[in-house]
Amino acid sequence: MTPAARLQAAIEILDQVLAGEPAEKALTSWGRRSRFAGSKDRAAVRDHVFDAVRCLRSHAALGGSRSGRGLILGALREAGQDPDEFFTGQGHAPAPLTDAERVQPPAPVGPEALDVPAWLWPEFSASLGDQAEAAALALRRRAPVHLRVNTARGTVEQAVKALAGEGIQTVAHLAAATALEVTEGARKLRNAKPYQNGLVELQDAASQAVTDRLPLKDGMKVLDYCAGGGGKSLAMAARASLQSFAHDADPRRMKDLPERAARAGARVSLVSTSDLDRSGPFDLVLCDVPCSGSGSWRRAPEGKWRLTAEGLADLQRLQGEILRKAAGLVAPDGVLAYATCSMLDGENSAQVQRFIEESPDWQLEGQHGWQVQDGTDGFYVAMLTRAKRGC
Ligand SMILES: C[S@@+](CC[C@H](N)C(=O)[O-])C[C@H]1O[C@@H](n2cnc3c(N)ncnc32)[C@H](O)[C@@H]1O
Repeated sequence: MTPAARLQAAIEILDQVLAGEPAEKALTSWGRRSRFAGSKDRAAVRDHVFDAVRCLRSHAALGGSRSGRGLILGALREAGQDPDEFFTGQGHAPAPLTDAERVQPPAPVGPEALDVPAWLWPEFSASLGDQAEAAALALRRRAPVHLRVNTARGTVEQAVKALAGEGIQTVAHLAAATALEVTEGARKLRNAKPYQNGLVELQDAASQAVTDRLPLKDGMKVLDYCAGGGGKSLAMAARASLQSFAHDADPRRMKDLPERAARAGARVSLVSTSDLDRSGPFDLVLCDVPCSGSGSWRRAPEGKWRLTAEGLADLQRLQGEILRKAAGLVAPDGVLAYATCSMLDGENSAQVQRFIEESPDWQLEGQHGWQVQDGTDGFYVAMLTRAKRGC
């Protein structure tokens, strides 16, 4: 495919995304229909689509319309490229620009230029303070590929060497001792031996740092209350010899966990909601709660535009409910850990503060946040224990 034909494919996919189709689904159906597209074409079209979704507001402004054409036109203008070189109408290229499209709108400013939804900017900027602009700009860029070295399978040095042997270059990431950032060859990863045999897992460095902060010791009975695919269950299991349990309100989300655990050499028992009380109490319960995902909008940029004020309020209510339920499963001297991949205070410290105010028998032991402009996804973790009462 020519560069212009790739842009035309991205335009058509973006129109479907703007009509409500998830980007992954739209890309997959385009891939099925487009047998002629080689792997480089597919990767390029994918990048155009996700870049456009990350920068949807500013590119729509620069391109003069919230449409596939508008977004790609805006992207070219931002990159300082001449749209006429691509919008030629020849072969599979986009049709030539209309007179209206030729009129370049003024450059966006403020939250529009930063690609933060207008309604969210007050909360976003209040949460991040003088780092708000840097965080918003970081969310406009592609996320790096991070790996977690599974130390149950080998050392970090062994992983670096094994990956290099398959053409995948990595550097250590400062956020966690087990974290590597892929600098070359990321697309080879899924077929590489160190990935297939469980020496490395795909996991953001801050997600690893969250589990590093948990006070895990051999023999502890640990519950990953919102386990999803089980990334944190596996990271915890690699740190100590635990009795590991995983639960999710939607058990289908955990369907790959047994296979992932086997690949990683870990044992994780799945618990249904109806068996939770019977399986407890636990020395540590981790609640990696559903959240806005604002810390991972580089990877999942549609979330930024689909989130609404009502949706955020619903998520915050659910986070409070989960904390209250999970607290009842923690052993008397145990730890309740609360984590999000968000950078919004309302989901992080303010949520924990509300919980402590409603449940005075709990106290905050420590909390930490990671922000996206520092080279990881945005994350937050808080550790709570039961307050010791004097006699
Ligand atoms: C942020 S994701 C978890 C990601 C996962 N811990 C990981 O590291 O890959 C949140 C999960 O919470 C689950 N969830 C939603 N409501 C829940 C509830 N009331 N109780 C437990 N889990 C819930 C969702 O199905 C989702 O899988």
